[in-house]
Amino acid sequence: MRDSHGRNINYLRLSITNRCNFDCFFCSSNSSLVHEITLQELRILSELFSQLGIEYVRLTGGEPTLREDLPEIIELFSKRFRVLITTNGSRLKDFAKLFKRYNVHVNLSLHSLNDETFHKITQAKLKDVLDGLKNAMKEGLNVKLNCVVSEYNVDEIPELVRFAGELKVPIRFIELMPVGKNNKAVPFKEILDRLKDFDLKPVDVKLGFGPASYYVTKDGNYVGIIAALSKNFCDSCNKIRLSSDAKLYPCLGSNFHIDLRAIMNRSSEEILKVMKQTIETKPLKHRMDETPVSNNMRELGG
Ligand code: GTP
Ligand code: 5AD
Ligand code: SF4
Repeated sequence: MRDSHGRNINYLRLSITNRCNFDCFFCSSNSSLVHEITLQELRILSELFSQLGIEYVRLTGGEPTLREDLPEIIELFSKRFRVLITTNGSRLKDFAKLFKRYNVHVNLSLHSLNDETFHKITQAKLKDVLDGLKNAMKEGLNVKLNCVVSEYNVDEIPELVRFAGELKVPIRFIELMPVGKNNKAVPFKEILDRLKDFDLKPVDVKLGFGPASYYVTKDGNYVGIIAALSKNFCDSCNKIRLSSDAKLYPCLGSNFHIDLRAIMNRSSEEILKVMKQTIETKPLKHRMDETPVSNNMRELGG
């Protein structure tokens, strides 16, 4: 559907669990309780999202592969949408075949290639992620790498680009958003500066459906930057978010939301009406540096 500012809302970020087996320092949860939208609720909502004009559904979390019923969720959403997933990769080796079957494109977080640095950032083991990545490549999955840039890994940017280049997968560097236990972002300009040896040229390619801008290296590999702080993507924002506790958020930067679970027993027409009204409230602009980002990245889907 078009929102009240004429933007085509066709992308849903869906946090299917707030559980995670990593503990990245830039991530946070506002609850120690598990919040998960049920498969039954997803069945009802899937039909309604389709009626709203959603085309792409990105499964996030928390860590979406921790859901035992992930195969059922993917099967359900694949009937109506292009399904995408953002994962920390630690369980990718168990899921690569499933993702291949449903052509699920994978955004895999890889914040460092050094065991110690990786552990500092995520409290988890690099090896599991690299094994997952290896499996994904073997299955021929469509993979992009995500690297959130911080003081721990800023020096590693060239090495990460070379690593991605060897695998021929795009890598995106993400400006850290101010949540979690540390919020010192490395700004877009410095990220670009660290990339200067690669002779990057801006390119107008569509490698995903979100806010990254892409460049190509002299060796023909794609490098993206997601300037969550420096750039404002609001003009072209195409998304809504459903949290792991079934709340519909029109915008990452607005705290306004509607609890769909509370109205799930109403008729489809009524739920749809409330969803449309919620999307109508999607603001024209928010500024990351002014709006306090809520402390519920895992519930909200990153
Ligand atoms: P594709 O372009 O489809 O690959 O998706 P994506 O890049 O949006 O998805 P991913 O889950 O890999 O997110 C990468 C980073 O972009 C994360 O840090 C997200 O929080 C951030 N991001 C995604 N959408 C928005 C948005 O609307 N606003 C802001 N500020 N950040 C976003
Ligand atoms: N700032 C930027 N990116 C973040 N991610 C998680 N927390 C933050 C943050 N505070 C990343 C994850 C994953 C994607 C969904 O968002 O590492 O790659
Ligand atoms: Fe888990 Fe992703 Fe948060 Fe890291 S950023 S703790 S992998 S949900």
